[in-house]
Amino acid sequence: MTVSASLASPQNDAAAHTCAQATPSSTVPADGGSATRLELPPLQLGNLTIDTPVVLAPMAGITNKAFRRLCREYGGGLYVTEMVTSRALVERNEKSMRIISHDEDESVRSVQLYGVEPKTVGAAVRMLVEEDRADHIDLNFGCPVPKVTRKGGGSALPWKTELFESIIRSATREAAQGNIPLTIKMRKGVTDDHLTFLDAGRIAREYGVAAVTLHGRTTGQFYSGQADWAAIKELREALPDVPVLGNGDIWTAEDAIRMVRETGVDGVVIGRGCQGRPWLFGDLQAAFEGSDQRFTPTLAEVGETFYRHAELLIDYFGNEEQALRDIRKHVAWYFKGYAVGGELRAAMATVGTLEQLRALLSELNPDAGYPGADAEGPRGRAGTPKRPALPDGWLDSRDLSEAHRAMIAAAESDVSGG
Ligand SMILES: Cc1cc2nc3c(=O)[nH]c(=O)nc-3n(C[C@H](O)[C@H](O)[C@H](O)COP(=O)(O)O)c2cc1C
Repeated sequence: MTVSASLASPQNDAAAHTCAQATPSSTVPADGGSATRLELPPLQLGNLTIDTPVVLAPMAGITNKAFRRLCREYGGGLYVTEMVTSRALVERNEKSMRIISHDEDESVRSVQLYGVEPKTVGAAVRMLVEEDRADHIDLNFGCPVPKVTRKGGGSALPWKTELFESIIRSATREAAQGNIPLTIKMRKGVTDDHLTFLDAGRIAREYGVAAVTLHGRTTGQFYSGQADWAAIKELREALPDVPVLGNGDIWTAEDAIRMVRETGVDGVVIGRGCQGRPWLFGDLQAAFEGSDQRFTPTLAEVGETFYRHAELLIDYFGNEEQALRDIRKHVAWYFKGYAVGGELRAAMATVGTLEQLRALLSELNPDAGYPGADAEGPRGRAGTPKRPALPDGWLDSRDLSEAHRAMIAAAESDVSGG
């Protein structure tokens, strides 16, 4: 089997095979054999057993069916949709219905919901349950995007304890009707002076959530600085009987191992680290199986995967133009660290058809190997800390004012974020 075939072909049953089948030039021991093994039992989410305790983080605009397929082909784990707005879903908005669609072979259909209004969130969970559209539901309390937090949503929401509790109550009650595990994903809090993760974790536990994910940043940090893994450890210790998943700044399988060792989490959640690197899930699977083999794709292999991603996006959107527009944002991630000239990069970042993409990819240097560290490390959103955009007076009290209550009732509109 050629290396590119092993990178691009379905291996959903076991990524260890992917790694084992890859030729030595495509995988290398990561660190001479030490610290390469993740020792964790399968992740139990209610009645679901996730053999490899690894989760693809929900990412708006990224973790659609096409990208999830690419990732799933490399390794086991739980692969979550982009967030979908509860109200838009209940209204069966076309885009929302596409967001929650799954491939037939996605054995666990996982959906992330966003919402600020308890009844609407409950109605969205009910719809997913009654219509058998999901096997796992996650609620988004981590989004720092101003458009979302300005309405009291995402990572701003747990600050309002009663509202948070109402949403959890409503969602867990509906999910229980179908025996569907419900999890939450959150940040540490709004700012360092307004932390919410311990309270929110305890409330979620009271209502029987199946797991809690913590991204170790506050809203105000956005994606800047370092994720605080000590906070993840603190949550792990505060909720001894609920699975806790750690999220933030895992760029390699070795980072995942380190997070498990440092925090004691039950699983790891990977966001930006797999942008342009779906094979990271193969590395994680290998680490779970005690193997130190890691994917080190050549430039030609990266080009093939990029092309396949574009093809899958055409299937997903049912529209070549939209798919090719979407693939453009992935160019910098896939080719990070590889010797690809500025002109070629620019041309790929404005590509309009699959045929043009094929022609551009034929210009890649066929002899270029894996560039090493330059292809690794941080990628995707970063930026600087900012004052969070919040409703007026939001941080004054943990109770909802009448004005906030009215705003929440009217707030839910179509947003996408992260
Ligand atoms: C482009 C982008 C979109 C995101 N969209 C969502 C989302 O829809 N729901 C969510 O809970 N988090 C979202 N996030 C946050 C990620 O799930 C994750 O928590 C964050 O990126 C930190 O993990 P990482 O360091 O592994 O990237 C998004 C992040 C990015 C970069």
